[in-house]
Amino acid sequence: MKIESICCIGAGYVGGPTMTVIAKQCPQIKVTVVDVNQERINAWNDNNLDNLPVFEPGLAAIVEETRGKNLFFSTDIDTAINEAEMIFISVNTPTKTYGKGKGMAADLKYIELCARQIAKVAKQNKIVVEKSTLPVRTASAIKSILDHTGNGVEFQILSNPEFLAEGTAVQDLLNPDRVLIGGDRSSEEGKRAMQALVDIYANWVPRDKVLTTNVWSSELSKLTANAFLAQRVSSINAISELCEKTGADVNEVAKAIGMDSRIGSKFLKASVGFGGSCFQKDILNLVYIAKSYGLNEVADYWEQVILMNEHQKNRFSDKIVNTLYNTVSGKKITFLGWAFKKDTNDTRESAAIKVADNLLNEQANIAVFDPKVAKERVYSDLEYLNTRSNEENKEQLEVKNDPYKACHGAHAIAILTEWDEFKNYDWEKIYDSMNKPAFLFDGRGILDKKNLEKVGFIYYKIGVGE
Ligand code: NAD
Ligand code: UGA
Repeated sequence: MKIESICCIGAGYVGGPTMTVIAKQCPQIKVTVVDVNQERINAWNDNNLDNLPVFEPGLAAIVEETRGKNLFFSTDIDTAINEAEMIFISVNTPTKTYGKGKGMAADLKYIELCARQIAKVAKQNKIVVEKSTLPVRTASAIKSILDHTGNGVEFQILSNPEFLAEGTAVQDLLNPDRVLIGGDRSSEEGKRAMQALVDIYANWVPRDKVLTTNVWSSELSKLTANAFLAQRVSSINAISELCEKTGADVNEVAKAIGMDSRIGSKFLKASVGFGGSCFQKDILNLVYIAKSYGLNEVADYWEQVILMNEHQKNRFSDKIVNTLYNTVSGKKITFLGWAFKKDTNDTRESAAIKVADNLLNEQANIAVFDPKVAKERVYSDLEYLNTRSNEENKEQLEVKNDPYKACHGAHAIAILTEWDEFKNYDWEKIYDSMNKPAFLFDGRGILDKKNLEKVGFIYYKIGVGE
C-alpha cells in the first residue's frame, strides 16, 4: 500500500513542523495540514517567513522549500480528509479544567471531534494515526466512534507518538532517536497499515530505528518517556537545593554522575523548574490513569515529580524576596527570558509565569525581555492565571523589546530562560544602569559567577552553594 496523500489535523507545534519535514523527505506525497484556527493557517501561509506561528531553528527554510509544492496549509478540513489515505490527528490534548478528572486527566474533546469529523466525511478506507499524546487505550475510543458513526468504510488506527522537543524540532525530526508505531499486529489490515507508515519514515529514518509495537505499548511509552525526562529534571533540581545548603555545586555533581554511562549526561541541568506544554500535563495524566486502576503508590510516586517542580519555582521567587531584604514591594525586577526554554517562542507552563505571579503578589514591578516572545503573549499567560485583573498586571509588569532598557534602574535581574545571547551582553553597562546593590539571580546557571562578581553584582546561581 503506497500512500500518496496525507492530511494532518492540527497545525500547532507538532503538526506544523512534523508535516513540513515529512513533505521535505517525501516529495512524492501530498501533505495537507488543516486547522480550525484561520489565523494560524494564515500565518503558516504568510509570505513573510518571520510570521510563521511556530519559531524553530531551520523550520522556515524547509517551509519555503516545500510550501505550495507538496505541503499545503488550509482550513478546508473536509476536503483534506476526503483526499487523504492517511490522516494524522495532531490536535491539543490539554489537562481537563472541568468535571471528572479536572486538573489531572487529559481532555480528549478535540480528539473526539476529529474522530467524528473523519467518520462523517470519509468515503473510502482510511488509516488514522494518533500523533497527539494520548492516554493509554484512547485508540479503542477512536475506533469505536469511527466504526459507529462512519459510512461503512474501514478504519485502521495507529499510534505514532511524537518525541520532538521544541527548539530542536527540525533536527529531532530529521534524525530521530527512534520512531514508534503501534498498531493491530493480529490482523492483515492492521499489519498493512503499520507497513504503510513504516514505509513513509523509511524515506529518511534507518529501519532499525523504527519500532513497531502493539497500540497500548506505543501510547503508554509516550507518557512514560515524558515522565522519565521530567523526573530527571526534578531529581537534579532536588539536589540543587541540597547543594546550596552544603556548599556543593550542582553542575559539578551533574557532571560527576552523568559520566556514569548507566546514568548518562543529558537532562541533568538544574533550572528554575521545567515548563512546556507537555511534561506537567502528561505526568498528571499518568497519575490519573494509575489512580483510576487503583494504583495509588504508582500515582503518588509520579506526582512527586510535579510537586518538586512547583517547589523549585516557588523556591526561586522566595530566594529573590529574601535576598532583597525580605521585600520587593515597589522594586523593579527584570526578567531575562519568558519562554519555557531557549530557541522557542512557546511559553506554555513556563517557570517564568509562576515566578512572576509570586513576585507580583509581593507587589514587585517587573520588566520582561524575551528575544522571541510577543508582549501580548506575556500578558495573556498572566491573565490565564486569573490571580489579578489584566489592568493590574499591566500596571505592575512591562514588556520591553530592548534588554538594556529592561534592566535600566532595576534592583535585580532574574534569568528565567537560557537564551545564548544573554551570555554575550555587556554586563558592565547593565550593572552601571542598575540600582545598587545590584542583584543577579541566574535561574538557568548560564553565566560566569567570577566575572559577574568582578563587575560588582551580587550573584546567585541555582544549585551553587556559598
Ligand atoms: P497546539 O496547541 O500547538 O496545536 C494544536 C492545534 O490543533 C491548534 O492549532 C488547534 O486549533 C488545532 N485543533 C484543535 N482541535 C481541532 C479540530 N477539531 N480540528 C482542527 N484543528 C483543531 O498543540 P501541540 O503543541 O502541537 O500539541 C499537539 C499534541 O502533540 C498534544 O497532544 C501534545 O501533547 C503532543 N506533543 C507536543 C509536543 C510539543 O513539543 N509541543 C511534542 C510531542 C507531542
Ligand atoms: C519534551 C520532551 O523532551 C520531548 O521528547 C517530547 O516530545 C515533548 O516534551 C512533548 O511531548 O511535548 P519539550 O517540552 O519541548 O520536549 O522540551 P525539553 O527540552 O524536554 O524541556 C522541557 C523543560 O525542561 C524546559 O523547561 C527545560 O528548560 C527543562 N529542562 C530540560 C531542564 O530544566 N533541565 C534539563 O536538563 C532539561
